[in-house]
Amino acid sequence: MSEPAITIDSHLPLDWAEGAMRDDISRAFSNSPKVLPPKWLYDDRGSDLFDQITRLPEYYPTEAERAILAERSAEIAAKTGATTVAELGSGTSDKTRTLLDAFWATGQLKRFVPLDVSEATLLDAAEMLASRYEGLQVHAVVGDFTRHLQQLPIGGRRLVAFLGGTLGNFYEEERRAFLGALGDSLEADEWVLLGVDVIKPIEQILAAYNDQAGLTADFIKNVLTVLNSSLAADFDPALFDYIPFWDGLQERVDMRLRVETPHTVRIDALELVVEFTEGEEIRVEISTKFRVEKLRAELAEAGFDVTDVWTGEADDFGLVLARRI
Ligand code: SAH
Ligand code: AVI
Repeated sequence: MSEPAITIDSHLPLDWAEGAMRDDISRAFSNSPKVLPPKWLYDDRGSDLFDQITRLPEYYPTEAERAILAERSAEIAAKTGATTVAELGSGTSDKTRTLLDAFWATGQLKRFVPLDVSEATLLDAAEMLASRYEGLQVHAVVGDFTRHLQQLPIGGRRLVAFLGGTLGNFYEEERRAFLGALGDSLEADEWVLLGVDVIKPIEQILAAYNDQAGLTADFIKNVLTVLNSSLAADFDPALFDYIPFWDGLQERVDMRLRVETPHTVRIDALELVVEFTEGEEIRVEISTKFRVEKLRAELAEAGFDVTDVWTGEADDFGLVLARRI
């Protein structure tokens, strides 16, 4: 009998969304300014909205990264010799097919390990990939990449991909902790492949986070709907305006929700009452744009040697390949 093509590990307990969310949200609303962790954006609707964002004309990162992957994936397969490709925050793994096609063509690829908190999206992607590459072991991990890197299956030579610019959604101290944990989870001569957005004209960056169709606003506001349904809160999304702006000091897009009308929100599951004053803001997400030399130093601190940086014809996105030393 042939082995099943898909295995699934879940490292999120059944009540994870409510349990971990309770801690995060209690903290977020006890602090000033109010700052939410971005992982709560990705319920089924949030994942679907993000997928639609990737097809917007203004949202350049997805196609920019896809083009670099198309050009470089064969080289990455040859250079790394990896037999397992893992992907953190894999989502639909749509672009990843470009990478996997190149690995598959060499015959070296044995296993693909997508990891994501968004279970339904992850499992759809796992099924799609298992049927595309007959004989490939797809080992899906339902998990949190800030907590479960040690749970990535070992064996073979691994390349861990973290694409799409998701590294930019960490705050600086979280990024340092994440890269350190990534270094700790890999053996010498294993590899990481990071897709990172790079500094470019501010107008182009801001347009990507303030699209005409309003999808980014819906995506960011969706977090309020998630809190309403998961924590019995009574946020009225119509009272919040989406305000994205460029923070030139931190070199990141700062995505906030601002209330014009002072009001009170109840979060029943936390027995919490949150007051919003006129003009008060919640920071929902940041998206840092990188300078390669700084990232190279951060990777070195985490035990990685950057071997290649590709920025494509338009120089508008970076694909960084680094070896664990
Ligand atoms: N890699 C894809 C998707 C990026 S969207 C691309 O390049 O287009 C970010 C993805 O990370 C989503 O699928 C979301 O569910 C996932 N995610 C966000 N925070 C996470 C966390 N803490 N742990 C695991 N997955 C997370
Ligand atoms: C997932 N991440 C890389 C996206 C980004 O561009 O920072 C999330 C996003 N937020 C608004 N639009 C896209």
